[in-house]
Amino acid sequence: MSILSDCKYAIMTQENPLRNIQEPPAPRSAVQALQDVAHGALDFAELEQHHLSADRVLDFSTNTNPYGAAPGVRAALLSTPVDRYPDREALMLRRALAQHLGVASENILAGNGSAELIWLAALTYLDAGQTALVIGPTFGEYARAAALMGARVDEWQAEPENGFAVDAAAIQVQLSRQTYRLVFLCNPNNPTGQTLPLERLAEWAQTHSETMFVVDEAYIAFCSGMPSAIDARLPNLLVLRSMTKDYALTGLRLGYAVGDARVIAALRKTRPPWNVNAMAQTAGVAALQDAQYMKDNLISLQESYQALTVALRQRGYTVIPSAVHFFLMQVGDGARFRAALRPKGVLVRNCASFDLPDYVRIAARRSEENQRLLAAIDEVFV
Ligand SMILES: Cc1ncc(COP(=O)(O)O)c(C=O)c1O
Repeated sequence: MSILSDCKYAIMTQENPLRNIQEPPAPRSAVQALQDVAHGALDFAELEQHHLSADRVLDFSTNTNPYGAAPGVRAALLSTPVDRYPDREALMLRRALAQHLGVASENILAGNGSAELIWLAALTYLDAGQTALVIGPTFGEYARAAALMGARVDEWQAEPENGFAVDAAAIQVQLSRQTYRLVFLCNPNNPTGQTLPLERLAEWAQTHSETMFVVDEAYIAFCSGMPSAIDARLPNLLVLRSMTKDYALTGLRLGYAVGDARVIAALRKTRPPWNVNAMAQTAGVAALQDAQYMKDNLISLQESYQALTVALRQRGYTVIPSAVHFFLMQVGDGARFRAALRPKGVLVRNCASFDLPDYVRIAARRSEENQRLLAAIDEVFV
C-alpha cells in the first residue's frame, strides 16, 4: 500500500480521531466581534430576489459621477494587457497623480479603492488597545477597520437638530480629553454632505502631533472650490481620495493616499502585493487626461442636484442642505421608503446603518434620471 492510500485509509477508519473534529479553528477575537457594515450601491442578491435587472435599475444609493467614465477610459482599457502582472508601484498612475496634485510621487500610494487605504491606515497605525476617534455619522469602514485591529473606537456624532454640522469646538474638547492614535474624518462627509474648514483640521493636527488624522476626501471633487487637506502638508495628515466616485471608475475601483513620504512608505509596507490591477491603473491615467469632461460633468451635476432638491422640498420632504450632490432626506421610515420605491426600479440608501432610520440618502443623477425618481415617488407616495 502507498503512503497516500495508507493515509486515506486511516482518515476513513472509525478509530481515527480526526473524523470527530466538527469545528474549524476560531478566528481571532477582534474578527469574532466584528460587525458587518451596510453600504449603498446595488445588492445583486437583492436584485435577483426581486426579479430586477442591474441594467434597468437606477441607483441613487451610490454617490458616484452619474455621467460615467471619460470616453478615453474605455479606449485605454481595450489595449491593457490582462495576461501580465500590473506594476506593483503603479508608477505611471502615481506620476500622473503627482502632476495633477502638485506633489511628488513619493507622497502618493495607490489603492484598490480608497476602502483599501482606510484599512491600510488602521493596519499601519493602530495597535490593539489603542483608541481611534471617528467623526460621525459617517462611512462605516473607519470604525470597522479600527475594530479589526483590536482598537477602541470612540464616535463623536453630529446632531440632526444642527443640520448635522460638524461642531469643531465640541471635537476640540473631545481631542483634549484623550490621546487618540488615529482620527478618521470624512470631508465632505458621507452621508451628511457637511464640510469642516481646513483651518480647523490643520489646527488639530498641529496641536496633536501624536495623532494621525486620516481625512477621507472621497467626495471633494463634488464640492467646487473646497480646499484640500493635501495643501496643509502636515506629517500627521493623511488624505484619502477615491477615483471610483468622481471619475466614475466604479466597477474597477481606484483610490489613492497623499501624505508625508514617511507615512506613505509605512503604508506601502502593509499593502498586499499588486494591490491595484492593471485595468484600474490604465483607467486612472486616462481619466486624469480629460479634465474638461470632469469639469462639465460637475457643473451639470450641481444643476441637477439643485433642481432635484427643490422638487423634493416642493413635495414636502425635509432635505438637509449639502455641499455635494448627495443629501439626507427625512422620510419617516427609511427602510420602508426604500422598499416601496424598489419595484419602480429606483434605489435609494436606507440610512439605518448610520443610526438614522428615518432618513434616506439620495445622490442626484442626470436630470432625466432624477425625473424617474420623482415620478416613482409621486406614484408610490402621493
Ligand atoms: C466616504 C467614503 N470613503 C471611501 C469609500 C470607498 O470607495 P472606494 O473604495 O470605491 O474608493 C466610500 C464608498 O462608498 C465612501 O463613501
